[in-house]
Amino acid sequence: MTKSMKAVVLTHFGGPDAFELREVPVPSTGPRQVRVRVHATALNPLDLQIRRGDYRDHVPLPAIIGHDISGVVEEVGSEIDEFVEGDEVYYTPQIFGRAGSYAEHHVADVELVGRKPRNLTHLEAASLTLVGGTVWEAFVQRAQLSVGETILIHGGAGGVGTIAVQVAKAIGARVITTARASDHDFVRSLGADDAIDFTTEDYVVGVSRLTEGKGVNVVFDTIGGDTLSRSPLTLAAFGRVVSLVDIAKPQNLVEAWGKNAAYHFVFTRQSRGKLDALTRLVERGLVKPVVGATLPLARMGEAHDLLENGAARGLRGKVTIDVAGEVLALPPVRRAA
Ligand SMILES: NC(=O)c1ccc[n+]([C@@H]2O[C@H](COP(=O)([O-])OP(=O)(O)OC[C@H]3O[C@@H](n4cnc5c(N)ncnc54)[C@H](OP(=O)(O)O)[C@@H]3O)[C@@H](O)[C@H]2O)c1
Repeated sequence: MTKSMKAVVLTHFGGPDAFELREVPVPSTGPRQVRVRVHATALNPLDLQIRRGDYRDHVPLPAIIGHDISGVVEEVGSEIDEFVEGDEVYYTPQIFGRAGSYAEHHVADVELVGRKPRNLTHLEAASLTLVGGTVWEAFVQRAQLSVGETILIHGGAGGVGTIAVQVAKAIGARVITTARASDHDFVRSLGADDAIDFTTEDYVVGVSRLTEGKGVNVVFDTIGGDTLSRSPLTLAAFGRVVSLVDIAKPQNLVEAWGKNAAYHFVFTRQSRGKLDALTRLVERGLVKPVVGATLPLARMGEAHDLLENGAARGLRGKVTIDVAGEVLALPPVRRAA
């Protein structure tokens, strides 16, 4: 058994240079846990929020962070019958309190772990777990989006939005999304019915124009700001707002009463059930992850820089890490310069 592994360790809170590639012990496996050889991980805004210290009370240093894994089971605990050695799996590690995914091996409670979709590479699968699980929780478990309803998805070209547009279409909803004009072809290729350029048109006006004043049934907020207080202006009666973003500022929700609106605040919880549902959509060809760039584990600082500044340089899709070092040698995955 491997005794030590490479891991990217957050040594202090700060910029992309806050990481160090270190040799650390391979974690041991409890009775209801699996140890996974990590083939790929992906980056999320939560990673940079943790890196810069937004969650310093929850993350004692030094820490291995990271919230997406696709890999292969290499050891199962004594009380596991769900998986065997060699199974391909994907999951989001427990957020806070346990080691994350920036490492060659990872140990997880089996309840968090799902079978990887057969038609995805490890990079694609890793890019899906946190954002896909979040979208499933927001649409299905919370807003109960249904066939024939209309949803406004803020930030349809982003990591969450890219999957949200596809899942909403798979559910059978009409999708209106906000994105820069240069991203409109992209969001339409994902299935969006209509796109509003948030840089030139107020989305409240855009939704009214596109729905002939009827409004949408659900608003999906991935951007924060004044979205909570302005959402009722875009909602039909009994509409729902699902927000992912804690803006830590008081907001006046008085408009919500007039619409009998319901608000759902989501901080995603990890579970196999959500991943199994996503796997079905992916294997039916209804949801396809978009990988924008891939770097090796040793270049985590550059990967974080891409996460923060890639969109301004025209990058679309998730920033992924080829932990096992098996893909970067091959075409056609786009390599980061
Ligand atoms: N609560 C949870 O459980 C949970 C789970 C996942 C994510 N999140 C949070 O959700 C947020 C989005 O995550 P993500 O992974 O999608 O981030 P992302 O990949 O950075 O995407 C954000 C998208 O929003 C767009 N955008 C920026 N300002 C906008 C505006 N005013 N109107 C419409 N779109 C706008 C961006 O466009 P440009 O790049 O062109 O500016 C980008 O496409 C983050 O704050 C993240 O922390 C929360």
